[in-house]
Amino acid sequence: MPAPNIYLAVSIALASGVAIGIPIGMLSRNKKPKVRRGLVGIDASPVSGRGAFALRSIREGEIIEQCPALEVTDRDVGGELVNYVFYGSAEDRRLVVMGYGMLFNHSSQPNVAYYRQEATTGAELVIYALRDISKGEELFYNYGDEWWSTRGQGSQTGTNS
Ligand SMILES: C[S@@+](CC[C@H](N)C(=O)[O-])C[C@H]1O[C@@H](n2cnc3c(N)ncnc32)[C@H](O)[C@@H]1O
Repeated sequence: MPAPNIYLAVSIALASGVAIGIPIGMLSRNKKPKVRRGLVGIDASPVSGRGAFALRSIREGEIIEQCPALEVTDRDVGGELVNYVFYGSAEDRRLVVMGYGMLFNHSSQPNVAYYRQEATTGAELVIYALRDISKGEELFYNYGDEWWSTRGQGSQTGTNS
């Protein structure tokens, strides 16, 4: 009587497949999503509040972050946000920079700089390394004298200020 044996074997195979498949499915659903954070991590800064830090060593000239940016008028920007936006393409324009771009602190001896580029999808702020940077170093760009003078704070000097 071979037929019942085949049915039995198929039933056992199906049942064990389901029994193995369910826990594997549950395990893979519980896996944390892989979040690509690129080269930058945000952490407490000894200089001011939060800052941006190198997650690995970075070579001079390497692009650190390519931030999508939104250009708005200065009337759209008020309060504390004024301290976070970049200058735009005209006197009365401001650039709201996404990603980690608006969390870099200032230094008059910066280790990063940035430029604006027009991608097919819109404006971007590209942040790149001015020199070799070690893993864990805080990343600073120079806000410029005007940034500080327009806030009545004068030009900041020193390594991290
Ligand atoms: C673009 S945010 C930088 C991120 C900010 N540290 C935070 O925690 O959100 C600019 C603010 O950081 C402060 N800041 C940046 N660099 C600084 C520095 N070298 N010394 C003192 N304050 C600084 C400024 O006063 C400004 O309000």
